[in-house]
Amino acid sequence: MTWAVANANVALVKYWGRAPGAGHQPAGTSLSLTLDGLTSGARVEERPRAAADRVAWAPPGPVADLGRFVARARAQLGIERPLDALVVSNFPVAAGLASSASAYAALTTALAAFAADPPSGDRLAALARQGSGSACRSMLGGFVQWRPGDDAGAVTQVAPAEHWPLAVLVAVTGTGPKRVPSREGMRRTRTTSPFFDAWLTAGEADLAAVREAVRSRDLTTLGTVAERNALRMHATALGADPPLLYWEAATVAVIREVWRLRESGVPAFFTIDAGPQVKVLCEPGDSRRVERALAAVPGVLRVLRSRPGGAPRILREAPAWAASGVLPGPGGEEARPHGPA
Ligand code: PMV
Repeated sequence: MTWAVANANVALVKYWGRAPGAGHQPAGTSLSLTLDGLTSGARVEERPRAAADRVAWAPPGPVADLGRFVARARAQLGIERPLDALVVSNFPVAAGLASSASAYAALTTALAAFAADPPSGDRLAALARQGSGSACRSMLGGFVQWRPGDDAGAVTQVAPAEHWPLAVLVAVTGTGPKRVPSREGMRRTRTTSPFFDAWLTAGEADLAAVREAVRSRDLTTLGTVAERNALRMHATALGADPPLLYWEAATVAVIREVWRLRESGVPAFFTIDAGPQVKVLCEPGDSRRVERALAAVPGVLRVLRSRPGGAPRILREAPAWAASGVLPGPGGEEARPHGPA
């Protein structure tokens, strides 16, 4: 039996749009920060006497077909025996917290342990993105760039987690599944939003600015550009037909609170993925104050604390948080395809 854990990531320059055609290629380059403590675990073991794989998610998460992913991974990694795979997460699933990224990164890492030939990191990143695009960025720690292409340099670490001890606070404003899965949201945006090409073009300048801000540890530039990149992603999605609105009232209230904090002299900056949660970046020394301010916003259910995190790891046993209650009992859940994320 093999356990692997992987962290979620938050995009500072967003991936929002696949290139047309097969191959799960992004339309633009994105850059993310891997998030310590927002973690998924994957348990994989062989099923020697079974004819088919068994795949489960606990608690059940509406993530795209894990079963199909395991079958595809087995084919690509040369794993002949059927497998039993279980994925668990320690934070709300499929609600704009990138749970599919950590889930597929953990699953890919655990599956690799069963490969006939040990695969390279590039091959694994290419496999992870077939489950969820952003999962390839969770295959590395720290600040990670993902650009279109299948070559060795497609997913690279821009800086390790230790480079910059930022604080990341996640204001959770809803725990239900997102209204429109990101895959469908991206397709609709690319094919119907008149702003899509402008979004991709503007993203190139954002990428250059964020790379430089990471290099020089310049929070004001990083935060300003990440914030505008997130707003432009959502503006482009709002321009789709029918429109995509991932925010709740509390999402807007948190945006206003972050702007109020800045006016009062606290450098805090937000970003938002395809869901109602708001992730806020600030200096570690300001994090208590920012956390209190976010927690006091009406509609904020709780605030999770994170910071730059590391790459996936193989464990000898279940992570402590998974052992305490979220695992299904003996006999487990039967494999069944899950709906879209
Ligand atoms: O990895 P996916 O297919 O769930 O898409 C993720 C999309 C965003 O989270 C909104 C942006 C990103 O770059 O992570």
